[in-house]
Amino acid sequence: MPEDGLPNGLPAGLRERLRACLGPKGMVEEADDIAPHLSDWRGLYHGRTPCVLRPASTAELSAVVALCHAAGVAMVPQGGNTSMSGGSVPDGSGRQVVVSLGRMNRLRALDPVDMTMTVEAGMVVRRVQELAAEAGCQFPLAFGGDGTAMVGGMLSTNAGGNTTVRYGNARELTLGLEVVLPDGQVIDALRQLRKDNTGYALRQLFIGAEGTLGFITAAVLRLFPPVRDKALALCAVQEPEAALALFRRFRDRDETALRAFEYISGSAMRLVLEGIEGASLPLASPAPHYVLIDLAASRPQAGLRELLEGVLEEALEAGEVADAVIAESEAQRQAIWRLREEAPEAQRRAGASVKSDVSVPVSRVPELIRRCFEAMPAIVPGAEPVAIGHLGDGNIHMNLQQPAHLSAEAFMAHGEAVMNAVNEITGALGGSFSAEHGVGRIKVKTLAKWRGGAELETMRRIRAALDPAGLMNPDVLFAPAPRR
Ligand code: MLT
Ligand code: ZN
Repeated sequence: MPEDGLPNGLPAGLRERLRACLGPKGMVEEADDIAPHLSDWRGLYHGRTPCVLRPASTAELSAVVALCHAAGVAMVPQGGNTSMSGGSVPDGSGRQVVVSLGRMNRLRALDPVDMTMTVEAGMVVRRVQELAAEAGCQFPLAFGGDGTAMVGGMLSTNAGGNTTVRYGNARELTLGLEVVLPDGQVIDALRQLRKDNTGYALRQLFIGAEGTLGFITAAVLRLFPPVRDKALALCAVQEPEAALALFRRFRDRDETALRAFEYISGSAMRLVLEGIEGASLPLASPAPHYVLIDLAASRPQAGLRELLEGVLEEALEAGEVADAVIAESEAQRQAIWRLREEAPEAQRRAGASVKSDVSVPVSRVPELIRRCFEAMPAIVPGAEPVAIGHLGDGNIHMNLQQPAHLSAEAFMAHGEAVMNAVNEITGALGGSFSAEHGVGRIKVKTLAKWRGGAELETMRRIRAALDPAGLMNPDVLFAPAPRR
């Protein structure tokens, strides 16, 4: 058990006070139990902590936050710990307390008339989807990690994922919020309102703040009617421009039918086929680029299969599509989605990768792909660009894979140069270096570079107003504060 008292533990007496608030289930103190909370999903960051706090309610969280605040102890909020940007693990000082929201996982309310659902931060996103479906509704936000990621992290990073093209990001799907501020005060704004112009839209401040302004503890999420008709295709295309042209065809024909329009590079598909059990390509031959088109409607028999066939036929005739397969069963549909969603895992199994999360106006996606595919291997000869993403909303994960001739360490030494090159291209195309994964710890310098001046200064002022001591997730977004 870590010792109380600085430099490696908590200020004297705090541990006992935290225990008294949280009870035996609410505090993790044994090294083996703490260990899973110390490393990020990508294995880039390994920190230390004197203990993990696991409050079971907003009242408990509020009480322990007030104690930490009074003692000047930094707090790192953690949900499913699936951050792609190192945003949910403590630093190596051993003085930052991890606060896990996992026990706060209740459904507080579900209203199929108002089409809202009030859930706590520790509920796994997949569970939100399931509960909505059980009530005859739909919670549409979906992404690869949604079986592990929790609502608090989804909102703190303003997650996007596969369905942004239709439903927007987490921000657009949130009506109300409950927040514990850095000093323990509680903002109870769990309102179910579609219109609520009462001064600053405070909830929007906490969404995407990556835990730097307080803890999101619960949210009112928007629900939608269930999907009653759907159709899905995987298409092989020769050029990125053809993928964009295909997107435009679908959007022009029926914008409301598009639920997802995803991009998979030929290299990403190959890694999935090689590294994921049971994955197989349902097309005649490999292609340089693929798109996955998912159509959905709440209207039964909405004619989506016909729409899909009709548009693909036109695209085949126009030479935009080289080959296409339409899912004939739910099993085939899921197998095709797996080809897209397992790409990050396939990349992880194939070695180290430099990852990006950039967005550009959708019209610039082909140029982004072309320019990055040229620039990245020029920095690390022999390394292969691997890209996946959400073409319909302009967000592409432009990654570079470790080549066989370099160790992971030697390869990752080029990480910054590769990311800089991708960010320069993205910036030149009017894009953002951080679309949906958050800034976390990995992009702190990048934020300062691309959002400097008045934009970053305003963020710092907001942070200073709510958390003057910089106790909330101190190493993300901004340059680390001096050690406490
Ligand atoms: C995805 O779109 O698959 C995720 O955002 C994860 C990733 O970039 O690896
Ligand atoms: Zn993504």
